[in-house]
Amino acid sequence: MCGIVGYVGKSQAAPILLDGLSKLEYRGYDSAGMAVYDGTKIEYEKAKGRLRLLSEKTHDGETMQGTIGIGHTRWATHGEPSEANAHPHLNEEETIAVVHNGIIENYAKLKEKLIKRGYNFKSETDTEVVAHLLDYYYKQGNDPLTCVTKVMHRVEGAYALGIIFADYPDQIYSVRKDSPLIVGLGKDGNLIASDVPAVLKYTRNVYFIENEEIARLTEDTIEFFDVDGQPIEKEAKTIDWDVDAAEKGGYDHFMIKEIHEEPKTVRDTLNPRIKNDTVDIEELGMSDDEIKSISRIRIVACGSAYHTGVTAKYVFEEMARIPVEVDIASEFRYRNPILQENELVIAISQSGETADTKEAVRMARAMGNMTLAIVNVVGSSIAREAEKVMYTWAGPEISVATTKAYSAQLVALYLLAMKFADVRGLLSADEMKSLITDLKKLPEQIEMLLGNKERIQKFANRFVAAKDVFFIGRGIDYAIAMEGSLKLKEISYIHSEAYAAGELKHGTISLIEEGTLVGAVATQENVYAKTVSNIVECKTRGAFILAVTTVGHEDIEEVADYVMYVPQTNRYFTNSLAIIPLQLFGYYVSVGKGFDVDHPRNLAKSVTVE
Ligand code: F6R
Repeated sequence: MCGIVGYVGKSQAAPILLDGLSKLEYRGYDSAGMAVYDGTKIEYEKAKGRLRLLSEKTHDGETMQGTIGIGHTRWATHGEPSEANAHPHLNEEETIAVVHNGIIENYAKLKEKLIKRGYNFKSETDTEVVAHLLDYYYKQGNDPLTCVTKVMHRVEGAYALGIIFADYPDQIYSVRKDSPLIVGLGKDGNLIASDVPAVLKYTRNVYFIENEEIARLTEDTIEFFDVDGQPIEKEAKTIDWDVDAAEKGGYDHFMIKEIHEEPKTVRDTLNPRIKNDTVDIEELGMSDDEIKSISRIRIVACGSAYHTGVTAKYVFEEMARIPVEVDIASEFRYRNPILQENELVIAISQSGETADTKEAVRMARAMGNMTLAIVNVVGSSIAREAEKVMYTWAGPEISVATTKAYSAQLVALYLLAMKFADVRGLLSADEMKSLITDLKKLPEQIEMLLGNKERIQKFANRFVAAKDVFFIGRGIDYAIAMEGSLKLKEISYIHSEAYAAGELKHGTISLIEEGTLVGAVATQENVYAKTVSNIVECKTRGAFILAVTTVGHEDIEEVADYVMYVPQTNRYFTNSLAIIPLQLFGYYVSVGKGFDVDHPRNLAKSVTVE
């Protein structure tokens, strides 16, 4: 998704903007640009492609002199990736510059009206209407703040904007609706950004801008206003995670660094919530009566987060005997879903900014249901939208393909299921103790699996030329197969599909031919023999079988060509272990193919548009 940075202060703005944008590269982009006020006019520069090209064009920002500016990385929505469509966009006299993240839904109508009033458009973007609208209101004699509020009343959709006016060369205006935006309170100047890592080098004190709030920054002041231009008070928050957490720290890619952080992530998500041999999630403020009254759970999420939801369905239903429906958020929001009166809606999201998940939460709230968000980014939109929040303490996840946040989500969901089962009288103290013991072993067991990475790398190198891969599994193993398949395809661009193993013979098995790679996940005791039968069916048709199973199932070697063993744990928790070799497999196939692992093509880290 697009990234925004802005700076006003004592230092040269352009190098700070470039640095900030580099911290937002993980969001995915296809062009970049900056606008700086140079003392007499707004200077701007754009480049299609990587940020490096913008740095080269501006000699690392040196050719753009000035202490106030805005920068942008663009992820194309309206109009192809090109210099013309890259931000900033300006009015015709080039006295107002705008950067934007989000989508202006009524831009076509606004554009038509502006054209009728004589405005000329240089790009195909929705953003350019904002620059011209601001110009329109400014020329009517309004001050910048009023112009911004008037634009907010006219545009529909999602937006975070950074705006500078040549006539007010000491001020940055910024506003958000449904797209993330923070303000950083620096020592020698102030900043705006789409995400915290972009400002961490300069400050740990940030303000999270809420929907329909406006920020006005100068070198030494930050003011906030509501959509009607009335001043409002906000409190700065201190970011307590380290800047190093957003750096590669000696690893080749963020993805492999983040995979190595999984033991810590699991520990950090788990430990604060285990007290006196039981699960303590008082942070949710949910009474036992509320938990007992839950008639059904509805999970809404997208992508990998959806896959953790699929795992959770098996865990909640078996452990806590609560029926669970798992919905892809973009599907949920566009049908007319039926929620029961006491149905708890759980939204799962790393970024906390996924547009469809956020909307699903809003809908559930509007329907009067209790909403609970499992979110990684503190203060993110979904965290604020939901009534209850359970944070996954994974720290910043930069690689587009999620790994550590996925693991943290699993742990949060296990804890929730255990708590619900406990309150509903379905877990004895001994069972609870034994589950906690197994949970506490997970970090060490993950470390052990990471120690095997060279073996997986060698295996992955054999499959860099694979064309089609199928992953199969039953029950929780199916959920693992879904995530293993997504991890492989999204970063290696190899076609891969996950199937419930029993479903294969209802059509898909006709695609299996000599040498087709089939990843079979077989960790669940109750369906192990069934999955092995499905493996044999594939093997008979020439498939190369990669099996993922638990230690103790060495008999699988009779039917599998290659086996990845994971340590034994409680059956509910096997996903946390079995996913590690599959994440590593996807990673090493992508590395073997020489791809940009952390920035897979066409993908964005934070999907703030639907
Ligand atoms: C895949 C991946 C995505 C996200 C999905 C939801 O590796 O990262 O499928 O899981 O876009 O994102 P969040 O969790 O931020 O809502």
